[in-house]
Amino acid sequence: MPPFAQTRHFVFDAYGTLFDFASAARRCTDRLGDKADALTQLWRTKQVEYTWLRSLMGRHADFWQVTGEALDNAMASLDLADPALRERLMGLYLELEPFADARDLLEALRADGRQTAILSNGAPHMLRPLVEAAGFTALFDHVLSVESTGIFKPHPSTYRLATTRFGCEARDIAFVSANSWDSCGAASFGFRGIWINRTGGPKEAVPGTSEREIRALGDIKALAGLA
Ligand code: LAC
Repeated sequence: MPPFAQTRHFVFDAYGTLFDFASAARRCTDRLGDKADALTQLWRTKQVEYTWLRSLMGRHADFWQVTGEALDNAMASLDLADPALRERLMGLYLELEPFADARDLLEALRADGRQTAILSNGAPHMLRPLVEAAGFTALFDHVLSVESTGIFKPHPSTYRLATTRFGCEARDIAFVSANSWDSCGAASFGFRGIWINRTGGPKEAVPGTSEREIRALGDIKALAGLA
């Protein structure tokens, strides 16, 4: 039997897993030119670093603020002093493109009666327009934001939001993330992890190992017994 055939609850990370954060800079190549890829990488690296730094400092701010501060640092690193570009990139963060195979997977899970949720660092006021812009609103039972915990992933209290909301044990949840560090944190918490390793990179050398490592969201259909 496929390993996740009996799994009722599928919980997804948002940024980088369902939604392509590179799409923001890609839509600004008229201004960014060949700096688009570098901006995407720096922006994302600083964004997650700042979540960890703020969590360790005990100085939480919501993910919108952190994302803006990370963008400021990334733009400064690339000598991009342009307030209009900053505003445009932040606006595009609210309508990031979903990965091509996301909708088909979510529809297949829903059609089979599985329950679905997003569990993200994103603040509720970021996640709502993001999910709406993709036309995904009806595809999720819950959109959970770590904001109510006052700390970021991979703190265990963030993952607990999902077990509390579904009223189940951690091992009853398949947690899907394309961020290795997030999949490690989720597996360490006790979720059954599915790591979407699109680039074939190495696992982060920290505790927690996902049960399955696959290349694309669409591969989950076979794991769930839907293909
Ligand atoms: C999220 C980021 C970390 O959606 O990808 O939580």
